[in-house]
Amino acid sequence: MSSRYFMDLTSFKHTLPPLQERVELGVLCEALGLKVGLEIGVQRAEFTREILEKWKSFEKMYLLDPWEAQTNYVDIANKNNDEHEKILRQAKKNVAPFQNAASDKIEFIRGYSNTKANMFDDLSLDYVYVDARHDYCGVSEDISLYWPKVSCGGILAGHDYLSADEVNFLTKKQNWALCGNGTIHLGAVRTAVNEFADRHKVQLMVTYRERYHFNSWYMRKTCNTGRQ
Ligand SMILES: C[S@@+](CC[C@H](N)C(=O)[O-])C[C@H]1O[C@@H](n2cnc3c(N)ncnc32)[C@H](O)[C@@H]1O
Repeated sequence: MSSRYFMDLTSFKHTLPPLQERVELGVLCEALGLKVGLEIGVQRAEFTREILEKWKSFEKMYLLDPWEAQTNYVDIANKNNDEHEKILRQAKKNVAPFQNAASDKIEFIRGYSNTKANMFDDLSLDYVYVDARHDYCGVSEDISLYWPKVSCGGILAGHDYLSADEVNFLTKKQNWALCGNGTIHLGAVRTAVNEFADRHKVQLMVTYRERYHFNSWYMRKTCNTGRQ
């Protein structure tokens, strides 16, 4: 492992190490011997590429995004449909180096996280990264739907551990208080994740030195049986 990652991540069998930046999740996946991943909210797959550069022994990565314009989504990621087609083409280019000859190591899934969840069996995903809608309702739904899909010892993580007020302070271009159904909830990602971690009694970790304060959160699933 590179000396950049000064901590021996393999020593964290049950707890999670503090990570500076989200790209180190790829190092963690590699160190833990994880194999199957899903990113929800992919855009240009720039982060997917960064993760896969570190996660050398991954066997399958699913990339899930509708790549289409949405209503009640005041987010810099909400583009018109022509723009989304270009973004999707860029995403395909970005992960092409990690594809295999059979073209089944990287799988693009075009659609919404809530309607595609039933594609995945429970306990079948070792790593899930949630970076789709950033409102409280969307994030709560995504993590509730995908937590059962995470394997024992697997990682559930996501981007932007922030409340709507914090985002508004950092940039005026987004309104993460607005849910898809038009309701308002100031908690956004931060409250959705906190409530989930409380309810499930899981250790919640947050990257501590991201550029621009858009930290990632991450948690590890432990089960009474199975791989951990
Ligand atoms: C912030 S971007 C993702 C950035 C990417 N994860 C990265 O770090 O490079 C958010 C993406 O989520 C997608 N998205 C929004 N709602 C979604 C949903 N319900 N299911 C899946 N993807 C969604 C948007 O189309 C957009 O491409």
